[in-house]
Amino acid sequence: MISKQTFFLTLSALTAIGAITASAGAQTTGGAVTADADGAFASSQRFNEPDGETMYRRVCAACHMADGKGSYTGAGFYPSLANSQRLEAGGYPAYVVVKGMHGMPGVGSMMTDQQVADVVNYVRTHFGNAYTDPVTAADVEAIR
Ligand code: HEC
Repeated sequence: MISKQTFFLTLSALTAIGAITASAGAQTTGGAVTADADGAFASSQRFNEPDGETMYRRVCAACHMADGKGSYTGAGFYPSLANSQRLEAGGYPAYVVVKGMHGMPGVGSMMTDQQVADVVNYVRTHFGNAYTDPVTAADVEAIR
């Protein structure tokens, strides 16, 4: 798994190339990551997002873009999640969020089971996707 620090460095690098508009926003004080100003991070280990949509905007959109269509130009390859048959089985995106996959860090390690389920369900019901069978917190727990 990619470390949290690597994740922040990745986001910083993306910010530098202008790939994201929303800043990761976490501040570092003497090597320790502290909660950021708008409270997106409850602590250095946990995201604090109220729902799947906000979580998507704050975390996933950095790479998969606000419209879910990803990015295939410049420095990175960030696959589209829009109109994606690969989201049909909810366990797949839940697994990717929890465990990560190649260039994608396992951001779900900083989320509760419910937060992973919420953001996965958000993606599976937006951006042209209409998979209405929800992923549950118990499903996510089983993946960890
Ligand atoms: C730091 C950038 C980054 C962030 C943040 C990120 N992803 Fe990804 N994601 C990737 C990359 C890169 C891949 C492609 C990995 C590969 O195929 O090698 C990917 C792949 C995926 C896939 C598999 C897509 C497919 O077609 O198989 C899903 C689903 C996914 N991400 C969902 C999410 C969700 C949901 C979030 C937010 C909770 C998120 N990602 C956050 C970079 C990111």
